[in-house]
Amino acid sequence: MEGYIDIHSHILPGLDDGADSLERTIRMLEIAYGEGIRTMIATPHYRESRKLIPIGYLEETLGKVEDEIAHLLPDMKIYMGSEVFYSHNMLSLLRERKVPTLGGSRYVLVEFMYGIDFTSMKNGLQEFLYGGYQPILAHGERYPELMKDLEQVMELKEMGIAIQVNSMNIIRSFGKHRHASSKKLFQHDLVDFLATDCHSDSIRAPVLKNTLAYLKKRYGDRYIEQLLVHNPKRILQNK
Ligand SMILES: [Fe+2]
Repeated sequence: MEGYIDIHSHILPGLDDGADSLERTIRMLEIAYGEGIRTMIATPHYRESRKLIPIGYLEETLGKVEDEIAHLLPDMKIYMGSEVFYSHNMLSLLRERKVPTLGGSRYVLVEFMYGIDFTSMKNGLQEFLYGGYQPILAHGERYPELMKDLEQVMELKEMGIAIQVNSMNIIRSFGKHRHASSKKLFQHDLVDFLATDCHSDSIRAPVLKNTLAYLKKRYGDRYIEQLLVHNPKRILQNK
């Protein structure tokens, strides 16, 4: 099997609440490597109410990490991206290239306030669609208002929104509610991407194995490949 592609990670050092040093980044990458991941999209938080990370600084930071792993993990590849916290201006900031898309494609990883109502979420996602971007809803299992009725998730999918689920939430690491929601999304075949959303080398490390064992038993190998190889490749190929 080809290496997995993790499309949601806070792997780059010193940019957000993810890795806090280059050493931590390296340890996280080693863990990811051990889990079968060979490609990561670095998705630091971009939130309009906070200072946006300048793209040049993001590139520079990525370059430092690439230099560091060139000998250590030569077949690990990292792409630039972001996790966009929805606000109305974000579309303009994407267009002005002040906020990076996933791997330079038209795919955008979007998160919302957890308590957001469904209509506001739908309208927000629609803005990106109408603007010519392909939105991926980050950790769809986390939004109680969305998850209280699966018809709503189906409505988003029909609009053309892709759904990403965090691997840790499937094996109950972060609470019963998120676990139940992830399970429901999988049972109804509503998941497009599985990702680690890693923030550290401990509690929120880039781990997949337990989740994959769970999914493999229920849905088989091909499904795992779809979520972690084929669909992510479509992002990198901008399909
Ligand atoms: Fe995240």
